[in-house]
Amino acid sequence: MTPYRRCGRSGLLLPEISLGLWHNFGDVDDANEARAMILSAFDKGITHFDLANNYGPPPGSAEKNFGTIFHQDLAAHRDEMVISTKAGHTMWPGVYGEWGSRKHVLASLDQSLQRMRLPYVDIFYSHRPDPDTPLEETMSALATAVQSGRALYVGLSKYPLPMLQEAVGLLRDMGVRPLIYQPPYSILNRWPEATGIHTWLEQEGIGSIVFSPLAQGMLTPKYVDGIPAGSRAARPEGFLQEAQVLAQQEKIRALHAIACELGIPLHHLALRWVLQQQGVTSLIIGARTVAQLHDNLAALDLPALSADVLAAMDRIAPAEASSKADNG
Ligand SMILES: NC(=O)c1ccc[n+]([C@@H]2O[C@H](COP(=O)([O-])OP(=O)(O)OC[C@H]3O[C@@H](n4cnc5c(N)ncnc54)[C@H](OP(=O)(O)O)[C@@H]3O)[C@@H](O)[C@H]2O)c1
Repeated sequence: MTPYRRCGRSGLLLPEISLGLWHNFGDVDDANEARAMILSAFDKGITHFDLANNYGPPPGSAEKNFGTIFHQDLAAHRDEMVISTKAGHTMWPGVYGEWGSRKHVLASLDQSLQRMRLPYVDIFYSHRPDPDTPLEETMSALATAVQSGRALYVGLSKYPLPMLQEAVGLLRDMGVRPLIYQPPYSILNRWPEATGIHTWLEQEGIGSIVFSPLAQGMLTPKYVDGIPAGSRAARPEGFLQEAQVLAQQEKIRALHAIACELGIPLHHLALRWVLQQQGVTSLIIGARTVAQLHDNLAALDLPALSADVLAAMDRIAPAEASSKADNG
């Protein structure tokens, strides 16, 4: 069964691996496989499902499809589940369809609740920092989400450290405790570590749930020799670009060689690495099939990576080389 970790200094426990619905749960995807992944994940103790207003394609369809599966099969288990959503990326046409105004954030949350047919979500995030809206306005919208009963907790995603610190201070002044932060984090993108964000979050008692721990699939053996058909980098609606894969291929091959020496697949090495990093509460993985999901969950049963292995990985992909929070 999946182990759980406490989310910062809060009462909420989250599974070490959470399931994200960014890709593979939209109207363009296989509905039967999507349903099977959600049900199988829950059966295996994955109590946390990470969504956003814009997940699909088309935008909104992942929430709609999740709502359908939830009401068909999981409604009786609502209090055993943590359901998260976000607002901030482009969702609908016109000037109110994105970013951090109260207008966008609260209308988007209401739309998300309607699509999922839920009265509240467990965690509601500001999905990205807005350079033009006063931070106080975005944080006041998050506070309203909690105070009006539409969300139990709030979180922030991809905010750079100084803005994160200011946002957390504003939320606390408004009487709302920020529960969680959501950055990208993998051995190929050590941004939250390199910028000191993880150290600061730990001091503040705020959890960190990291996304794309497999770097969108780059940390699986599939890209060692090119771009295979059907992979995210080969699909027109996928966010992973061929150029991103090619830029990382040397590191991917070197990490793959370490995994081969250990007799494990590259994705197990990558997942174990993130699980062992300081400040990490949970990993949000993506999966396209039930087989991928089960394969990834098997990483939870592996022994910890040794100091020698960690040092070898560090030499291939040092933290200082990591750049930015760039995923949508
Ligand atoms: N806050 C934010 O801005 C933000 C941004 C990005 C993501 N997220 C969250 O994080 C979640 C995870 O992101 P992600 O999908 O990029 O995570 P990921 O786990 O790094 O990549 C998932 C992809 O890797 C491939 N894969 C996974 N397991 C595999 C296996 N065992 N064997 C072979 N291939 C495998 C699949 O792609 P193929 O199609 O190639 O098989 C799968 O869709 C999202 O769903 C979302 O909830 C949040």
